[in-house]
This record gives sequence, structure tokens and C-alpha cells, in this order.
Amino acid sequence: MAELVVVEDERAAGELVAGSIVSLIRRKPDAVLGLATGSTPLATYRALAARISDESIDVRGVRGFALDEYVGLPAGHPESYRSVITREVVEPLGLTPELVRVPNGDPEQIQHAGVDYEAAILAAGGIDIQILGIGRTGHIGFNEPGSSLASLTRVKTLTAPTRADNARFFDSPDDVPMHCITQGIGTILRARHLVLLAFGEAKADAIAAAVEGPVTASQPGSAVQLHPHTTVIVDEAAAARL
Ligand code: GLP
Repeated sequence: MAELVVVEDERAAGELVAGSIVSLIRRKPDAVLGLATGSTPLATYRALAARISDESIDVRGVRGFALDEYVGLPAGHPESYRSVITREVVEPLGLTPELVRVPNGDPEQIQHAGVDYEAAILAAGGIDIQILGIGRTGHIGFNEPGSSLASLTRVKTLTAPTRADNARFFDSPDDVPMHCITQGIGTILRARHLVLLAFGEAKADAIAAAVEGPVTASQPGSAVQLHPHTTVIVDEAAAARL
């Protein structure tokens, strides 16, 4: 059963999650973080960067795995999740770049990219805390509706609503890639602690389905109900339909 926390705003959520991550890193200096992209976790990354700097926390051994990546963006594209994770997480937190992995979205290497990524997560001893946002379609990572609840890292086709939502990051909606590589729902469920964040009214339906709906592949967020340690942190607007 998920633990539900309703907070005042994103900033309060960010401070809460940053506090959990700081305690984890103090206990385990080579902690493994599961990193989400999108707007939702940005307040968490900002709060975490501030705590690390104010409290001089040694994060050189901290490892990270991003949830997902677009397939086929040129290396160094500013909106590739590799670039976003570098800009929003690795640099501000001062993490060791070689210890933070993002799935490989190079079409030439895509055949084995999923298996390689799963192997790297296993070799790191698994993910300690997985930060998750949720899409309007109910997707977690890029596991769109219909994704198997047992799925592992693999290539998926993005849905039209998700491409439309992410068009804001690109010059034109046509520039949003058609495919992505994402940790599967099965991969996500192997993390030791899931933290699902959502803010704003646009997420209220997805949160109601994830937290109170039936567990179903048509609402990938509902898979968090299968996990023994899930924390859902939302603002009032995202909690409106609970
Ligand atoms: C994106 C990401 C997800 C993210 C979701 C919500 O497409 N692949 O990991 O959780 O969609 O995005 P946002 O946080 O910007 O609302």
C-alpha cells in the first residue's frame, strides 16, 4: 500500500524528498539513485543540490540511473535526457559523471541497449530510491498504457499525447522523437523505494488511477500499488480526485 503525502507545493515536496536522499547518502555513500526527467523532479534536484552544498555532503561515490531516453537524437542534443540529466542533476549536485548512466538511445546500438542497462543496474546492486513523475496518460518512465507490468528496459513508441506534452522542449512538435528507450515497469518495481511525485490539476486523473484505481497495464502508474515501499507526494491540485 502506498503512503500518501499531500504537501503545500513543489518546493515542500522537493525538500521532503531531498531529506530522504540525504539520509540515504549519509548511510550509504555509494547510494544508487533512480533519476526521472521532466519538470516534476526539478524542485527535488534543486533542494538536494542546496543540502549537499550547505552540509558539505560527499557525493563522489553516489551512482545514478536515468529512467529513460529518446531514441535517435544526435549526441549532445540539449533535450536528450543525457543532456538534461547532466544539466539538472550531475552538475548542480556535483556527482561523478561516469557513475551516472542514461539508457543508450543510439539507433546503431539499440539492439542490446536494454539488456546492457539492466545488467548495469544489477551490477550496481539495484536502485535504492527511484524518483518518478507521471504523465497525463498515466505513464511512468516512458511506459505508456499497455506496457507489461513485468517489462524490463526496452524500446517503446511514444503516444501522441506524450509527444504533444513534450513538444514544449523542441523547436517544432515534429522534432519530438517517435521512439524512446525506457526502464520497464518490472525494472522500476525492483527499486527498493519508489517516490512518485505529481503537481497540478493536469495530473489529478493520473494520480487517482495510480493510487486508487485497479492495478492495470492501461494505467502504468497503478503498478506502484504492487510495491511494498511507495511514497506518493502530491499537492492539493493533484490530489483533487482522490
Ligand atoms: C516525461 C518523462 C517522464 C515524466 C513525465 C511527466 O515524458 N519521460 O519520466 O515523469 O513525462 O513529465 P513532467 O514532469 O514534465 O510533467
